[in-house]
Order: sequence, then structure tokens, then C-alpha cells
Amino acid sequence: VHRLIADATPVVADDLIAGLDLAGRAPAQRPYTIVNFATSADGRATVDGRSGGLGDEGDHEIFRALRGAADAVMAGPGTLSAERYGRMIKDPDRRRLRERRGLAPEPIAVTVTRSGHVATDIPLFAEPEARVVVFSAAPIDLGGAAAQVQTVRAEPEALTMSWVMAQLRADHDVRLLLCEGGPSVFAALLRERLVDELFLTVAAKLAAGEGPGITAGPALPEPANLTLEWALQSDQSLYLRYAVRN
Ligand SMILES: NC(=O)c1ccc[n+]([C@@H]2O[C@H](COP(=O)([O-])OP(=O)(O)OC[C@H]3O[C@@H](n4cnc5c(N)ncnc54)[C@H](OP(=O)(O)O)[C@@H]3O)[C@@H](O)[C@H]2O)c1
Repeated sequence: VHRLIADATPVVADDLIAGLDLAGRAPAQRPYTIVNFATSADGRATVDGRSGGLGDEGDHEIFRALRGAADAVMAGPGTLSAERYGRMIKDPDRRRLRERRGLAPEPIAVTVTRSGHVATDIPLFAEPEARVVVFSAAPIDLGGAAAQVQTVRAEPEALTMSWVMAQLRADHDVRLLLCEGGPSVFAALLRERLVDELFLTVAAKLAAGEGPGITAGPALPEPANLTLEWALQSDQSLYLRYAVRN
């Protein structure tokens, strides 16, 4: 056991994350896959049903930096509707920065549904410049969405996360996939051993209540082991980066 010695040198999350070249680590058959979550100190991933109450400015900085580097952002239907997703990168300066780095102005938004129930009344689907890919085992009513939506259909038994990953890499050239949850989708990726890294904000808050943790559903056959890659701090929150030892 040892005490972490605070290095008070400020870091810029954007530079730190862009400098990792995470996309360059993608294997041939799937994207390099990172997951970003916030948790309260007592392990809750929501306050009043949403994650917003757990994020502070440092969390937002990392959130923006990760989106800034990703080719695609995956969120489950539960998260899309609870968080009312909008366009991926709202700030035009940040879209231009991505282009200077050789990326599309915005990451593709990706979701996966077996039931076909995706809330299309969220701002994301009303944004004409948004590119959205929906992997679905059932027909989807897009309800006149203005966004550029591609629906990829699969038989229910074929709709695995591994298959989704292979499609994203082969058909959409996704090298870095950022999964923003929710707990059910994160656990599904873990079960198929598809997660390379976890970025975890530990908010200096206690929430109690019945909110979920950062994973949900059946236990993994055995716990996934993590390696701590870094620990950052601002105000009272911690921002941890773990590699998942698959
Ligand atoms: N603290 C944070 O950082 C954070 C981050 C994200 C979300 N959240 C919170 O988490 C909550 C939503 O989480 P959630 O777990 O209910 O929803 P979710 O993980 O966003 O979406 C769950 C849905 O994903 C679909 N899905 C497709 N393939 C799946 C598979 N193999 N396994 C499991 N699900 C699969 C299912 O939809 P079908 O039923 O259509 O098949 C399932 O109902 C919200 O309250 C949100 O605010 C917190």
C-alpha cells in the first residue's frame, strides 16, 4: 500500500487522450473499445434516474475529450432515452478540431436493440447532420427522423455484441468505439470480452436509493481484472483509467 503523491501539474484531458492514439490500437476484427461511466462513492450510476447529478467540470472535460477522439459512440436504448441524447459534438470548434485530426466532424451514434424500441423523439434523431446506426432484431419505426439513420437488421440469435463490433469495424471503419453505457450494455460487452478500457469518474457524492451500479444483469462467469492506468483528480472527484485484462 502506498499513498498516491499528488502531482499538481494541470493536465488537459483533450491532449492527454488524443495523445494516447487509442484508435491506433484497434485489432483487425473489431474496434478498440473504451467505456466511460460516472459513479457515486457508494456505487450508484444514477441520481434521480440520470447520470447528470454525478458529473462535474472535470468529468465533462473527459467526456468531451473521449467523444472528440472516438469514431463512434455506443449507447443503449435505455441511456438514449433517459439522457435524451442530442448531437454528438455541439461545439463547431471541436468539430473542426476533429477534422484537423483526420476524423469525421462527429462520431457516429450507435445503438443496439432486440425489441426495436428506440425512443426516436430525442434530439439526436431530429439533427440532420447526425449519423446514427441502429442494430436491431426487430423492425423500427423511425417516425420521420431527420437524422441520417441506418438500420442494420439481424436475426435475434445473431445480434451479439461481437457481431455488432465486427460490422462497425468492417462496414463503418470504426477503429475507436466509445461506449457510454448504460449498465446493461456495458455488462453485455464485458460478457463477450469486448471492452479494452474503462474511464471511471468517482464522484465525491453518496446517492443511496435504488439506482443501478455501472453494470447490470447476470454476473460475469468470473470477475474481469483491471489494471489502473492513471488516476486524475479535480476538486474532490477522481478520474480513473483502467485497462481491462481480457
Ligand atoms: N453513470 C453513468 O455514467 C451512466 C452512463 C449511462 C447510463 N446511465 C444510466 O443508466 C440507465 C440506463 O441503463 P440501462 O441498463 O437501463 O439501459 P442501456 O444499457 O442503455 O440499454 C439497455 C437496452 O439495451 C438493449 N440491448 C441490446 N443488446 C443487449 C444485450 N446483449 N444485453 C443487454 N441489453 C441489450 C436492450 O434493449 P431492447 O430491450 O430493445 O433489446 C436493453 O433494454 C439510465 O438511467 C442512465 O441514466 C448512467
